Amino acid sequence: MRRVIIGMFAVAVTAVMVFLVYPLVPAVSGQPRGTAEAGKAYWDATTTWCSRCHGETGQGAYGPDLAGRGLSFEQFQRAVRRPWGVMPAFTEQQASEQNIADLVAYFDSLPKVAAPGPWRTTVPAGAPLGQRLLIETAGCGQCHGDVLGFPRLAAGGVGADFAQFEEWVYEHTKEFPTGRMGNFSKARLPEPVLSEIWRYVSVDLGLRVPVTAVISGTAAAAGSVTYNLTVGNTGTAGKGLAAGEIYISVVVPSGSTVSSASATGYQGVQNYAPGGYDVAVWLAPRIAAGEKLTYTMTVSDSGAAGGSRAFVRWLSPTRGGEFVQTALVRP
Ligand code: HEC
Ligand code: HEC
Repeated sequence: MRRVIIGMFAVAVTAVMVFLVYPLVPAVSGQPRGTAEAGKAYWDATTTWCSRCHGETGQGAYGPDLAGRGLSFEQFQRAVRRPWGVMPAFTEQQASEQNIADLVAYFDSLPKVAAPGPWRTTVPAGAPLGQRLLIETAGCGQCHGDVLGFPRLAAGGVGADFAQFEEWVYEHTKEFPTGRMGNFSKARLPEPVLSEIWRYVSVDLGLRVPVTAVISGTAAAAGSVTYNLTVGNTGTAGKGLAAGEIYISVVVPSGSTVSSASATGYQGVQNYAPGGYDVAVWLAPRIAAGEKLTYTMTVSDSGAAGGSRAFVRWLSPTRGGEFVQTALVRP
């Protein structure tokens, strides 16, 4: 009996050892084999953004040209895992050894370029220091544009502080293990530089509030249509920023007249001369993160079938009408 148990134990141990050892064999026997087709597919995929810095075909831009350069697997791997300069580092989950081998084969299959291509995002004339740092020095602008529109929205949605911003930049893959952005190095992008970028985007430009609007129409009694508009702040409740002084305009379809409208904050129908149409207008003092406001407008007559659209704008905490939201619907 004891021998049977020991025998079973030995079989189990062998099975476990085979399982543990087997996957290591290909790595020990050298680098993976790559193909140009797979490398091109990785480079072109929407899940990777290397090309924003190196060009659509590796012709060079903010980062150096890679096409036809003849980099070895080891050189390529070193540049991706422990970049020499400001390039963020990418993990195995974002760019595997196999992906790297495929990229080496892909760039080997392309001719050298005569000269590297232009940057995707350039520094506007007279740009303030914070903006120059985020475009030229750190390279954030190659993916996020020249005013970091998306990061300001993400930060506003959770009411981020500098500590959170730092974590997103230096330890990006903690929250986004398979994200398209890598981990920046404190040695190449030191905290004082990142702090000036943060000051510029959070104070000078201001964080953004994720306000969304959805409008839908339902045919009511003969010849009339009721539109329901929901305006929401999708930020995290209790954390995200509130939007303030909100102007909500719902376009009155041409040939229609408003027969009723929800009362809270209603300002009546106004003519919007530049667009040549009427709008029903509401004002709301504030929408807190996680909150939703709803509005209804009922119009009569046939023009209603053409549908309506809504514009939501707010003055606080953003500037210059940058964040106009548009919702369009066809009933
Ligand atoms: C923010 C822009 C940026 C992004 C994104 C980026 N790179 Fe780079 N890359 C650079 C810069 C700049 C260099 C030059 C060295 C440095 O500053 O780290 C570089 C260098 C390299 C090199 C070495 C080139 C040489 O001549 O030795 C390789 C290889 C490379 N990058 C591959 C990649 C791959 C693969 C990705 C995506 C997984 C990627 N890069 C994403 C900017 C970028
Ligand atoms: C290779 C393109 C790329 C570069 C370069 C880049 N980012 Fe990102 N960033 C992204 C993408 C894509 C996301 C969305 C998450 C993901 O896919 O990694 C993101 C997300 C973020 C977020 C928001 C996290 C959230 O909660 O959604 C912040 C903040 C941010 N980036 C700031 C920066 C800053 C600052 C820099 C420059 C130091 C920078 N990024 C450089 C592509 C990039």
